[in-house]
Amino acid sequence: MPITTCIFDAYGTLFDVAAAARQAAAEPRFSAIAEDWPALAEKWRTKQLQYTWLRAITDAHTDFWEVTADGLDWALEATGHDGDAELRQRLLDLYWELGAYPEVPTMLQRLKEAGLATGILSNGSPQMLDGAVKSAGLGNLLDAVLSVESVGIFKPDARVYDLVEMNFGCARDEILFVSSNGWDAAGAAGYGFDTVWVNRAGDPVDRLPWRPRTILSDLTRIPELATGA
Ligand code: LAC
Repeated sequence: MPITTCIFDAYGTLFDVAAAARQAAAEPRFSAIAEDWPALAEKWRTKQLQYTWLRAITDAHTDFWEVTADGLDWALEATGHDGDAELRQRLLDLYWELGAYPEVPTMLQRLKEAGLATGILSNGSPQMLDGAVKSAGLGNLLDAVLSVESVGIFKPDARVYDLVEMNFGCARDEILFVSSNGWDAAGAAGYGFDTVWVNRAGDPVDRLPWRPRTILSDLTRIPELATGA
């Protein structure tokens, strides 16, 4: 089936999750993380994701904002910054206005011009996603912003991926699913989406039973891939 619908993961795929720590580190009042902000950002992201998986398999769901704050608290303590309440608050505030990767607006515009439907499918809470989409100015380039909160469990549970067909009324083999998270791309491929893994860091492919059909280094070529041009 030709692709009719392009669905994007949000954090790490459209929005740069390292931007919060990078930006705070550039502010003079947070010079304490000038050196080690990459480690802080990496530990924050890793714990945030681990907590989503652990909450999903233990049936202890909470929203992505809470696991984001919990992951940050772990990362601040691990890097010796846990006493800095002002830094903690600044990092959480910045998470609501993460920048999109530079190629995102043009890429989405090209998909819309080609007549494809576009959307986000994310662990993020509706409020977080609304903040990020507005702050990046992407609202008029997305037909739907779907949050796991409507099913109350995190990715890669199949009930999350079901949201796309339910919302767009299309078959799963008409859907191109794009994620920078190797485990999400693998989960979506296992579910039956045509899947792209955006591997900006040049990481090894995840050793899971399912593989993405396509691996790209950024989002620029998504319109060609989706339209077969
Ligand atoms: C999301 C996380 C996985 O946006 O980045 O769903």
